[in-house]
Amino acid sequence: MRDLLSKDLLRGRNVFVSGGGSGVNLAIAQACAELGANVALCGRTEAKLKLATAALEALGVEAVYAVADVRDAVAVDSALEVAARHLGPMDAVVCGAAGNFLAPAERISSNGFRAVMDIDLLGSFHVAKASFEQLRTTAGNLLFVSGGQSQMPFVHQAHVSAAKAGVDQLMRTLALEWGPLGIRSNSIIPGPVSGTEGMRRLAETADADVWAGMVPLGRFARLEEIGTIAAILMSPLAAFVNGAQIVVDGGMSLSGSSAFNQAVLSAATPSD
Ligand code: HXC
Repeated sequence: MRDLLSKDLLRGRNVFVSGGGSGVNLAIAQACAELGANVALCGRTEAKLKLATAALEALGVEAVYAVADVRDAVAVDSALEVAARHLGPMDAVVCGAAGNFLAPAERISSNGFRAVMDIDLLGSFHVAKASFEQLRTTAGNLLFVSGGQSQMPFVHQAHVSAAKAGVDQLMRTLALEWGPLGIRSNSIIPGPVSGTEGMRRLAETADADVWAGMVPLGRFARLEEIGTIAAILMSPLAAFVNGAQIVVDGGMSLSGSSAFNQAVLSAATPSD
């Protein structure tokens, strides 16, 4: 499918991806690399980053990584510096690092709630802020990886719903503040995606067919389908897209979150 796009769509551009060692974020990095971009990754686990970087280099582009937890503003600043030192200033930055677990609100400790807020929301802010000067130089853009939880509440996702709503308001605010400087900000909202850590966590609660049945298209997304749309959003093809939430969920959100909620609640044991 990506063959339909020019292989030079992002040629010579530099893309930074937080949380890029695995899952949807790595798929976004791969899509960008297949379309010619050089890629910098940051994440918490060096082993994953090493493997991911090697896979990206095998696509014929330059790739570099820095170990950084997005909760640590100093480490994020340093990761963006490493990226620029190796590749030059970033043309696009993906605020992708996220954390999640399913738990009823009364069982989420203050520390658990804070962990998700700090990774998803504060971490996204750290990455956006650290990349500001580079993006101003290149008239680049930010892409936040949000979630359906930002638009509607999901049960056992109080922490994530709060965090993702914040992520999208952060995105919109930056679209207003930084748009006049030539920096676009958007978010992508993936639905269920096969082969990801997030779906593995969900699959523990219900049969995969139940989840697929919630999607009008009748299946989960493939990783590359999310990567392709993300890459287009960061490319000149989307030059007039700013402040937008782009939903890539096969139509799942059209029916709200009630099917998800029912599946999660019916999978929970009575003592849950
Ligand atoms: C209740 C939990 C919990 C659980 C962790 N905590 N898991 N509480 N139910 N299942 C609590 C811990 O008890 C602790 O609180 C606090 O959260 C912090 O946990 P730590 O493990 O010490 O923190 P940390 O190592 O920083 O881990 C952060 C994390 C973890 C978010 C909790 O899950 C993580 O690192 N996840 C990264 C990978 C990930 O989640 N990928 C999926 C993203 S996909 P106390 O009070 O005990 O100290 C996605 C798409 C949506 O977001 C998919 C839908 C499910």
